[in-house]
Amino acid sequence: MGLLLFLLFTMLSIVTADEEAFIGVNVGTDLSDMPNPTQVVALLKAQQIRHVRLYDADRAMLLALANSGIRVTVSVPNNELLGVGQSNATAANWVTRNVVAHVPATNITAIAVGSEILTTLPNAAPILVSALKFIHSALVASNLDNQIKVSTPHSSSIILDSFPPSQAFFNRSWDLVMVPMLKFLQSTGSPLMLNVYPYYDYMQSNDVIPLDYALFRTLPPNKEAVDSNTLLHYTNVFDALIDATYFAMAYLNFTNIPIVVTETGWPSKGDANEPAATMDNANTYNSNLIRHILNSTGTPKHPGIAVSTFIYELYNEDSKDGPVSEKNWGLFDANGVPTYIMHLTGSGVILANDTTNQTFCTAKDGADPKMLQAAIDWACGPGKVDCSPLLQGQPCYDPDNVEAHASYAFDTYYHQTGMALGTCNFNGVAMITTTDPSHGSCSFSGSGGKNGTFINGTSLAPSTNSSLSASSPHSCDIGVTRSAVVISLLLLWIAVFL
Ligand SMILES: *[C@@H]1O[C@H](CO)[C@@H](O)[C@H](O)[C@H]1NC(C)=O
Ligand SMILES: *[C@@H]1O[C@H](CO)[C@@H](O)[C@H](O)[C@H]1NC(C)=O
Ligand SMILES: *[C@@H]1O[C@H](CO)[C@@H](O)[C@H](O)[C@H]1NC(C)=O
Ligand SMILES: *[C@@H]1O[C@H](CO)[C@@H](O)[C@H](O)[C@H]1NC(C)=O
Ligand SMILES: *[C@@H]1O[C@H](CO)[C@@H](O)[C@H](O)[C@H]1NC(C)=O
Ligand SMILES: *[C@@H]1O[C@H](CO)[C@@H](O)[C@H](O)[C@H]1NC(C)=O
Ligand SMILES: *[C@@H]1O[C@H](CO)[C@@H](O)[C@H](O)[C@H]1NC(C)=O
Ligand SMILES: *[C@@H]1O[C@H](CO)[C@@H](O)[C@H](O)[C@H]1NC(C)=O
Ligand SMILES: *[C@@H]1O[C@H](CO)[C@@H](O)[C@H](O)[C@H]1NC(C)=O
Ligand SMILES: *[C@@H]1O[C@H](CO)[C@@H](O)[C@H](O)[C@H]1NC(C)=O
Repeated sequence: MGLLLFLLFTMLSIVTADEEAFIGVNVGTDLSDMPNPTQVVALLKAQQIRHVRLYDADRAMLLALANSGIRVTVSVPNNELLGVGQSNATAANWVTRNVVAHVPATNITAIAVGSEILTTLPNAAPILVSALKFIHSALVASNLDNQIKVSTPHSSSIILDSFPPSQAFFNRSWDLVMVPMLKFLQSTGSPLMLNVYPYYDYMQSNDVIPLDYALFRTLPPNKEAVDSNTLLHYTNVFDALIDATYFAMAYLNFTNIPIVVTETGWPSKGDANEPAATMDNANTYNSNLIRHILNSTGTPKHPGIAVSTFIYELYNEDSKDGPVSEKNWGLFDANGVPTYIMHLTGSGVILANDTTNQTFCTAKDGADPKMLQAAIDWACGPGKVDCSPLLQGQPCYDPDNVEAHASYAFDTYYHQTGMALGTCNFNGVAMITTTDPSHGSCSFSGSGGKNGTFINGTSLAPSTNSSLSASSPHSCDIGVTRSAVVISLLLLWIAVFL
């Protein structure tokens, strides 16, 4: 009877939030000059980052994180998963070595068991739930199960038909894993871990998903996506995917499992095939994401429910294979210099501050060189811009091309007119950007924030110690399984626009 009541209670209860949502950061280590653990922790502290996820349980890193106040999610790497899932003793050993040895000095709060196993290592899927259970029983044996949650990050591509969210379901091929896994999460009070990449959804949508919708930009009300079953309005891809996940769980009768987003982000640079990978887009996505999460807005289905989120990622991982974007997801370079200054005014103390309201005026990509030259001539003449830094031998001479020189002249003019409305136009060949175009010793007007977060005093020399060799296997499997999302979004947007 007690059990029955308990079951009834858990089935009726809904997702509840007993704590505030946090923003954390993933620490991938695939860098040619990976900072050493002390330097990593110095950067995290300077940026007030209080939650990190590691892709392994590197001993030196965990020691450096001791007594830092930073909450840590450690990972069982995919290459250790089989061992852990096949043997209770191996799992217990893993926990002793990588967790028990470090707590409480290092505040380990969660263990991510494997990464995107169903989609990247399907052969290991049959032992995934055993791995979760073995790790959990080892924590129980050490009396750590209350403070350390156990879960496994999934690619959002296991969710099919994700728009409208109310019709989403997990790929049924995985029911034999998903059902016991959700039971495990429910019975241990652990979250579902999900990797969410609106960037890839946008890229794969052939412009069906508006960029603004992927970037959390304000949409006119008539452009918001409406779920016709629930009449809920969606203003961004991120929320739609989270709600799709709630609905997919509900479809299997699990309604009280919270979600933690273990990875999301936007690359700041890409190759010719990746035009959406720009500094501005990355800055916009991550700034809006942070504001959205920290504001505890929740999602349309569960307003006010915390969806804590780890940004992918702390550093640009220059040693990663793949397209240029793969190397450019980071908020910082190996020296701890921010890739861009985020716009976080009003969202409290986390990450590099936008204290300066910085904007810059640069040449538009692909603008006609003749028009750019004409604009330079005007700015450096009648416009009264001091263009001497553009002369040969001067700091802004290189790169010696009309676009770079135009950017310098435009930005100087824009700032010397107090960034007044209409002063960044130049017959349509100029644009306002939030990315500081300064380079080398060429400092653009309006610059100054960039070094504000430079980690001074710490020598961020390349580390010769390669004990941190884990790479971060994040999803770039943008292939087949996304098509369902894309097609249903396509239908939706056709409906909206017609
Ligand atoms: C560790 O993190 C948990 C969860 O955020 C927190 O409640 C606890 O106070 C932290 N412990 C220490 C020693 O900081
Ligand atoms: C696994 O080991 C733990 C102790 O670490 C024990 O309590 C538990 O019963 C074991 N589980 C199985 C399935 O053998
Ligand atoms: C969910 O619960 C409903 C009502 O109790 C039941 O009819 C249905 O079969 C359940 N679905 C699953 C997947 O367990
Ligand atoms: C938080 O959300 C509320 C309601 O949506 C909004 O009015 C407020 O401006 C938001 N605050 C921030 C800092 O974004
Ligand atoms: C951000 O700016 C505010 C207000 O200027 C300041 O109090 C806070 O310490 C800054 N945060 C960081 C991380 O620099
Ligand atoms: C930032 O810019 C906006 C719009 O240009 C302005 O309304 C706001 O007051 C500025 N904030 C600061 C701190 O300068
Ligand atoms: C930032 O600081 C570094 C090191 O002190 C310096 O070399 C660089 O010129 C500065 N950049 C800007 C834009 O001020
Ligand atoms: C940064 O370095 C300069 C020169 O080395 C020093 O004067 C300054 O106090 C340092 N700032 C911080 C915040 O450590
Ligand atoms: C690398 O770090 C490990 C563990 O901290 C240490 O034992 C080893 O001596 C270091 N190697 C170098 C070359 O610094
Ligand atoms: C569902 O998962 C199976 C097994 O991984 C895969 O072959 C199939 O393509 C997936 N279905 C869809 C629609 O993505």
